[in-house]
Amino acid sequence: MEKPEPKDLSYYYSRVTMNRQASKMKQFYQYFLIPGIGNLAGGLPNPGYFPYDTLEASTALPDRFKPTPNKPVDPPVSELGNCTLSDSPAVSRVLVPHDSAEPNLLRKIDLTTALQYGTAQGYPPLYSFIRSFVQTNLHPNVPYKGGPEVILTCGSTDGFAKTLECFSNIWDEERDWIREREGILCEEFAYMNAIQAARPRGLNVVPVAIDDEGMLASGKGGLEEVLASWDKSKGKRPHLMYTVTMGQNPTSGLLSVKRRKEIYSLCQKYDIIIVEDDPYWYLQYPSGNRLSMKARGKPVSENFPIDPAHNYNASSGGKSSGFDFLDSLVPSYLSMDVDGRVVRLDTFSKTVAPGCRLGWITAQPDVVERIQRITETSTQQPSGFVQSLIAELIMGPSKSGDPGKGGSKDGSGWKVDGWVRWLEGLRGNYERRMQLMSTILEDGKYLIQSSRRGSRLSASDEEEYEVLHKTQLYDFAYPMAGMFLWMRAHYETHPLYQDVEHQRLAQALWVFMTTKPYLVLLSPGSIFCPTPEIMAEKGWQYFRLCFAAVNDDVVEKYSKAIVKAFTDFWAIDDVKKIDDLLDDDEKVQARLANAAMQNQVSLNCHGAHEM
Ligand SMILES: Cc1ncc(COP(=O)(O)O)c(C=O)c1O
Repeated sequence: MEKPEPKDLSYYYSRVTMNRQASKMKQFYQYFLIPGIGNLAGGLPNPGYFPYDTLEASTALPDRFKPTPNKPVDPPVSELGNCTLSDSPAVSRVLVPHDSAEPNLLRKIDLTTALQYGTAQGYPPLYSFIRSFVQTNLHPNVPYKGGPEVILTCGSTDGFAKTLECFSNIWDEERDWIREREGILCEEFAYMNAIQAARPRGLNVVPVAIDDEGMLASGKGGLEEVLASWDKSKGKRPHLMYTVTMGQNPTSGLLSVKRRKEIYSLCQKYDIIIVEDDPYWYLQYPSGNRLSMKARGKPVSENFPIDPAHNYNASSGGKSSGFDFLDSLVPSYLSMDVDGRVVRLDTFSKTVAPGCRLGWITAQPDVVERIQRITETSTQQPSGFVQSLIAELIMGPSKSGDPGKGGSKDGSGWKVDGWVRWLEGLRGNYERRMQLMSTILEDGKYLIQSSRRGSRLSASDEEEYEVLHKTQLYDFAYPMAGMFLWMRAHYETHPLYQDVEHQRLAQALWVFMTTKPYLVLLSPGSIFCPTPEIMAEKGWQYFRLCFAAVNDDVVEKYSKAIVKAFTDFWAIDDVKKIDDLLDDDEKVQARLANAAMQNQVSLNCHGAHEM
């Protein structure tokens, strides 16, 4: 059966996006490639004057970290703490040469091309690698004709900024009619950097209720309800959705295929563009459901297949990615995107390093073409240093005689196999940490106190009996993906719950954890609330714990410190102690603010001298 063409979404382009035209100069680029042409047209600096002769780096081999199985298994307890590098961290030496003689620009990796002005799609060899990886391995089953196109970005933050620019008009309360105000849907706990990109444009930020998986399609506060009951006096019904569906930040939710289908069909009904921001896609943890079953007798969500050998691409009747690992991952919204309404953001921030500032957008070709126009007049393309180093690491030199060296032992590149193996190793390390933290927190969830009571029948000591009181301190869903554990503190069981204003109690616990002997810093839930109402209603009850950021050997130590801090905090029954904690904190905050101010003053003075 022939695949449908992607839907024309141009009516959603912003006014600025509609008006954009291709860069005249970039149109010349194809002529630059004519062999032997004397190029006096481009305003290009001379590559012989670049101060870098080569770029060289010592890098990991793809198998540096041990993977975890794709099938959920009970992790043997003895292995839980074993989260470190596999035996010897062997290295390779990547080299990007100044010049490569390779004539094919899609294979040529050298500084002469990488450090020169280039095309907005991205550095040709890296662009071609990512495009092929996306189409063949990551999303082999996109249902529209021709499949998606890609464009490189300076990371997902940049990708989202460009997507907003493409699909939303700035709205100003003083200048514009309310009926013109556009909106964006998001999870009720959200990655705030994205919200902070949308809000100043005047967009209505519209939260949708979530459960342990992610966004709810139906039910109270779910997508259906939000859209069906849209109140036009607030502005237009939102035509954009910002969603993090795999290892959501902050909740770590992983959205099942079943839920995806329900949400996608609502997006079709209400004509919504889905912006899927998934930096944690590769970090899916099949053992999350299994650990939950073991500890609590129920999975995190019933919507995930019970079959441990589930292959998502095969089960949907689609093509395989070519890798068991990728086939075992819940697929992107792109896998069901018959209309071409999904704009997906990917990044190297979590798979290489955030400082790379490198990522890509995957979407239907017309949308990518508009984003290319936005790129031409903004970032132009990601840094050539980063693009060439990553291209060389993965792709390696094209043939013998090319002086480059890739990231494999023999000087070739990691290739697709190596890149996927690297991702599997990262998943392994983070999954083991997740298991370690979750297991410790599970064990410390309840405060068990015992008291001795005398028997009513006899007062003799032997007939005394013990009464156990079980108080729940907190709860969490086992992370199914990502880098976070989202914890709800059960303040309602705290001895001072009736006496202290609840948000103050939460703030005091947060401060308490930062004091000795606990010394742990968690993100308070309040910083992930897209609206003040969510913050007041429930945001204050949560903490986000990032098990990724600290070293392997201290995950255990800090997880235990959190349990101990909860236990000790629940022993506080004097309001004065809470007041003292908050007073002390205010003093610390004031000191910090003062120090920051001083610092600012000296920085400004320093800046002024330099100017
Ligand atoms: C959901 C989400 N999106 C985007 C980012 C930032 O990605 P990048 O570094 O590619 O801009 C993060 C980083 O924490 C994130 O959690």
